[in-house]
Amino acid sequence: MEMLTVVPLAMVVLSSYFLWFISLNRTLSGPRVWPLVGSLPGLVRNATRMHDWIAENLRKTSCATYQTCICAVPFLARKQGLVTVTCNPKNLEHILKLRFDNYPKGPTWQSAFHDLLGEGIFNSDGETWLVQRKTAALEFTTRTLRQAMARWVNRSIKNRLWRILESAQCTKSAVDFQDLLLRLTFDNICGLAFGKDPETLSPDLPENRFCSAFDRATEAALQRFLFPEFIWKLKKSLGIGTEVTLKKSVKIVESHLSEIIAARKEAIASGTEDVHDDLLSRFMKKKDGYGNAYSSSALKHIALNFVLAGRDTSSVALSWFFFLVVHNPRVEEKIVEEISTVLADTRGKDTAKWTEEPLTFDEVDRLVYLKAALSETLRLYPSVPQDFKHVLNDDVLPDGTVVPAGSSVTYSIYSVGRMEWIWGEDCLEFRPERWLSPDGRKYLPPQDPFKFVSFNGGPRICLGKELAYLQMKSIAAAVLLRHRLSLAPGHKVVQKMSLTLFMKHGLRVLVRPRELSC
Ligand code: HEM
Ligand SMILES: *[C@@H]1O[C@H](CO)[C@@H](O)[C@H](O)[C@H]1NC(C)=O
Ligand SMILES: *[C@@H]1O[C@H](CO)[C@@H](O)[C@H](O)[C@H]1NC(C)=O
Ligand SMILES: *[C@@H]1O[C@H](CO)[C@@H](O)[C@H](O)[C@H]1NC(C)=O
Repeated sequence: MEMLTVVPLAMVVLSSYFLWFISLNRTLSGPRVWPLVGSLPGLVRNATRMHDWIAENLRKTSCATYQTCICAVPFLARKQGLVTVTCNPKNLEHILKLRFDNYPKGPTWQSAFHDLLGEGIFNSDGETWLVQRKTAALEFTTRTLRQAMARWVNRSIKNRLWRILESAQCTKSAVDFQDLLLRLTFDNICGLAFGKDPETLSPDLPENRFCSAFDRATEAALQRFLFPEFIWKLKKSLGIGTEVTLKKSVKIVESHLSEIIAARKEAIASGTEDVHDDLLSRFMKKKDGYGNAYSSSALKHIALNFVLAGRDTSSVALSWFFFLVVHNPRVEEKIVEEISTVLADTRGKDTAKWTEEPLTFDEVDRLVYLKAALSETLRLYPSVPQDFKHVLNDDVLPDGTVVPAGSSVTYSIYSVGRMEWIWGEDCLEFRPERWLSPDGRKYLPPQDPFKFVSFNGGPRICLGKELAYLQMKSIAAAVLLRHRLSLAPGHKVVQKMSLTLFMKHGLRVLVRPRELSC
C-alpha cells in the first residue's frame, strides 16, 4: 500500500481508539488506566504490596467498590476484561448469599484447578458442589470429628512441637515458626482426612514426598492465573514449563492417595479394618448424588480438596497471630492470664501440672479471649486475602455498580477489615476486646456477618471454621504456656503475594522459657 492510504488509515484507527479510550476511562473508577495495558502498570509497581494497594484504592472510593480493566482493548474491556473490586459488606452479602446462584466460581477458576482438584467441593459449582456440601456439612457438625481433630493436635503438640521448641530454647537458635506450623497443620489434616499422620513435623524437618508434590502442584496451578488462559492450555498441550511440574506432581499426589484408598478398601473387605474415624472412611460409607458409592477417583479428589482447604489456612493465621502477639505484650499477658485462670481451676495451683499435658477439649472451649485474639488476627490478616466470583447474568450490586455477564468480581477480604467506616477509626489496631461483650466474658462476633468474611460467608462458608478455632486455640495455648517468643534480630516479616497470605521469608523467632504464676 502507498503512504497516501496508510497514513490516513492509521490516523483514523488511532483517533477512534483514542475516543473509545476516553469514554472507557469515564466509565471506570479506581486506579489509573492506560491505553492497551489498562491498570496493569499500577499493579506491577505495587506487586509486592498488592493487598495494601487494593485497600488504598478502595478507601478512595465512596462505596468501597471500583471497576477497572487489566487490558484496555475494545470488546474485552467492558466484559471479560472488566474487573470489579469490592469490600462493601452489602455487596458481599449480595454476592455470597442473596444472589449466590449468579456468582459461581466460574469456568476460568475451575479449569485452572481441574487437574489438581477435579470436581471436588472446592472446585465445583451447582449440583456437583451441593451434593458434596450436604454430605460434608453433616460430618462437620459431629462432635466425633472435633474429638478426632483434638486427638491429632494433642499428639503432635506433645510428641513433637514441644520437643522441638524445647531444643530451640536450649540451643538459643532461631526457628522458622511458620515452617513448623505448616508442618504441624499438614500432619493434622492428613490425620483427619485419611487417618495417617505423615510426621512432617519432627526435629530433623524431613522432606515429605507427598507434601512437597502437593506444594509444587498448588504453586503450578496458581501460575496459570498469571497469563491469559490460552497460554497455559498451549503449554499443557506442548508439555512445557510449569505444566510439566504440575503433571508430575499431581501424579505423585494421586498415587499416594490411591494407595491409601486401596489399602483401606482391602482392610474393609477382609474385615481387619480397625476403627477409623477420618473423613475418608466417613465418605466411603456414603452415597453420591445418584445413590452409588463413591468411586476411588472421586474419593481421591474429596480427600485432596479437604487437605487443600485445611492445611495452610490455619498455620498462616497462627503465624500472623504470633507475629501480632510478639508486638503486643499487653494482649500476650491477657492471653496467658486467661489460660492460667482456666488451668488453676481445672488442674489446681501447682503450675507444673499445667504444662504436663496439652489442654483438653473443655479447657480449650473456655478460652474466649484467645478466640477473640485469633478472630482479630484473621480480621487484619485473613489467610485467604481475596477471592473471585464469576458473573453469570448482568446484575447491579447494592451500591449501584453495574456488573455485566461474563465479567468477574474480586472481593478483597483483606480490605474489609481495614476500612474505617466498617471497623472504626482504630481498625488497624490489634484489639481483641472488640470481639467481646463489655464484661469480657462472652465472644460476640459482629452483628452483620459480612463485616468479617475471613471464613467466607453464605452457603459456601468455610466448613472447617470450628475445627480451625479448636486447632488454633490448642496450639496457641500450648506454645504460650511454655514459651515466650521474640522476633529473631534482623528478621523482616513481609507478605507473600499468593492465594494464601504466607509470610514470604517465614517467621524467624527466638524461643525463651515462660515463668508461670498463679
Ligand atoms: C483459619 C483457618 C481457615 C480459614 C481462614 C478458612 C477460610 C476459608 C475460606 C475463605 C473459604 C472459601 C474459599 C472459596 O470458596 O474460595 C473456605 C472454604 C472451605 N474450608 Fe476453610 N478455612 C480455614 C480452615 C479450614 C479447615 C481446618 C478445614 C477442614 C478441616 C476447612 C475446610 C473448608 C472447606 C471444605 C471449604 C469449602 C466449602 C465450600 O466450598 O462449600 N477450612 N475456608
Ligand atoms: C481518566 O483520565 C483522567 C485524566 O487523564 C485521569 O486523571 C483519571 O485517573 C482517569 N481515570 C481512570 C479510571 O484511569
Ligand atoms: C503503587 O502504584 C501507584 C500508582 O497507582 C504509584 O504511584 C506508587 O508509587 C506505587 N507504590 C509503590 C510502593 O510502588
Ligand atoms: C492427649 O494425649 C494424652 C496421651 O498422650 C492423653 O492422656 C490426653 O488425655 C490427651 N488429651 C486430649 C485432649 O485428647
